[in-house]
Amino acid sequence: MFRTFRGGHSGGWRVISIAPVTGEPLPFMPALSVTDSEAVSLPLVPSRNAWRLVGAPSNLRYTERPEKQQLTAVQAGLGRVEATSAALIPIRKSQAWWDLTQEERRKIFEDKSHHIASSLRFLPAIARQLYHCRDLGEPFDFLTWFEFAPAHASLFEELVAMLRETEEWSYVEREVDVRVVKE
Ligand code: HEM
Repeated sequence: MFRTFRGGHSGGWRVISIAPVTGEPLPFMPALSVTDSEAVSLPLVPSRNAWRLVGAPSNLRYTERPEKQQLTAVQAGLGRVEATSAALIPIRKSQAWWDLTQEERRKIFEDKSHHIASSLRFLPAIARQLYHCRDLGEPFDFLTWFEFAPAHASLFEELVAMLRETEEWSYVEREVDVRVVKE
């Protein structure tokens, strides 16, 4: 299954802001559509009036069994009626990150940056899904997607601010922060 996020002029989500965090930005588009497909289909003609990002959910790389159990016990699924705010945060990590071994990356991701341990308290308010796209030849390595009720908007700011301070984030070379609300 592939999920396509298309910034353009129509779609189920209205774009509030597209903020460059690190590296090259994405052009502002007023709407975001989110669709699923069985195959990656390339647009016949690249459009000036839209951008599209594709990713696929994948297996876990770093999560250990007890962490997986903790996450499963508290996390919320996508599509809750009250979760009318969302964020699409595409991220690319540097070659230095990918040159590390799996074990070295896990150390930075969790032992030093506490990505999972520190984020758990934001569940179930923030629902999340990670899509991988590094192997699809996409401009980003990951598309991260979060859904929350408008009342939890400041909680979400706290979460992203916390993660951006971590050692893991020193390997992020491109990050764009797209905020949307349900139409
Ligand atoms: C990966 C949890 C918020 C960006 C992961 C993984 C977990 C996780 C368990 C590892 C998946 C694996 O084992 O492969 C959480 C929780 C969050 C949260 C519980 C709280 C809601 C965020 C936020 C961002 C983010 C806000 C972006 C600003 C990423 C990225 C990866 C990741 C880019 C992939 C890392 C890699 O494979 O190198 N997250 N996360 N996460 N998360 Fe989060």
